[in-house]
Amino acid sequence: MHETVLTRILKIRYPIIKAPMAGGIDTPDLVAAVSNAGGLGSLGGGYLTPDQLREAIQEIKKRTQRPFGVNLFVPEEQSESEEMINQMTDYLNFYREELGIPLSPLIKKSAESFEEQVQVLLDEKVPVFSFTFGIPSPDVIQAFKQNGTVVIGTATTVEEAKQLEVSGVDAIVAQGSEAGGHRGTFLKSAAQSLVGIMALVPQMVDHVSIPIIAAGGIMDGRGLVASLSLGASAVQMGTAFLAGPESGAHTVYKQKVLKENEDATEVTFAYSGKAARGIQTEFMNDMHLYTGEIPAYPIQNVLTRDIRQAAAKANNPEYMSLWAGQGLRLATDDTAAKIVEQTMEQARAAVKKISMVEVIADSSTLR
Ligand SMILES: Cc1cc2nc3c(=O)[nH]c(=O)nc-3n(C[C@H](O)[C@H](O)[C@H](O)COP(=O)(O)O)c2cc1C
Repeated sequence: MHETVLTRILKIRYPIIKAPMAGGIDTPDLVAAVSNAGGLGSLGGGYLTPDQLREAIQEIKKRTQRPFGVNLFVPEEQSESEEMINQMTDYLNFYREELGIPLSPLIKKSAESFEEQVQVLLDEKVPVFSFTFGIPSPDVIQAFKQNGTVVIGTATTVEEAKQLEVSGVDAIVAQGSEAGGHRGTFLKSAAQSLVGIMALVPQMVDHVSIPIIAAGGIMDGRGLVASLSLGASAVQMGTAFLAGPESGAHTVYKQKVLKENEDATEVTFAYSGKAARGIQTEFMNDMHLYTGEIPAYPIQNVLTRDIRQAAAKANNPEYMSLWAGQGLRLATDDTAAKIVEQTMEQARAAVKKISMVEVIADSSTLR
């Protein structure tokens, strides 16, 4: 069970990938701990400046000799009307007043330069490059492949997976509707692309010939065995690692992850203008009452940034984005190494249990 086609491609021991988690959650310690434990640690680099990205990669290299991945966001061109942006800015000023921060701040840029981020990854020869929110241009994918980097894309439907396969990626993350964080959807609407992994993985496996990585709500060895049974070659787990000691998540965020259950999350556009699953907050609930249109990602993301940051400073989870998947009740504050080891142990036990059922079934047929 350890070895799958993907563990061979990625040169890792166990078919467990720690999901990239941008936004301060991924620390070099967390990424390296998973790689050192035999999985693949990944750094969510989407929001990092090129300098921050280079520094984080070099810190990871100091901590592990094993392969690791770096993830970026494929850029999207969005130009919302000034009126829509002003209306949202006015609406958000209510939270700024509450938090005692300047009203209507000047927004300089909405996202980091993807080209510059890519160049850092190429210079640093990262072993694995993964991406979400679309497909980079063919020359970007080619450059990584020529550099000896394994390339992984993200799909939420079979059609997206087919396009990724044509683009030349080496493997695809099948992101189920259970998954925490932003949806990687890039073809249809977010609502049309909310497919659970039990349905998504086998259909994707049947329609593309490259390895599939199951992601969404997988928290332990049972989820790993189930995913491998559906035809996946590995799992990508995010929420499972959120509350551990190496995670850079804010303390109140970790507390919420440990306290909340499977019914506490919702897919929302409120924080960033892009569909993402997170623990319900007052901010998300308020935004249901907003009568205007929410500007698309990345505009809404920068419009709410100062509010999220001030809320974090004030230890107020209600205005923070608390991305998490539906496996919440199974979350622990164990170390990353323990989570990897336990997942493998539980998987072995789950396989044994299934074989026992087979033995019983066989013997009862004999009788
Ligand atoms: C806090 C958080 C941040 C995330 N950030 C990223 C990211 O930067 N890039 C990415 O491809 N996926 C990101 N994801 C999604 C994960 O890749 C993955 O699909 C998800 O964690 C799987 O579901 P789970 O959280 O239930 O394990 C994030 C998920 C979480 C929970």
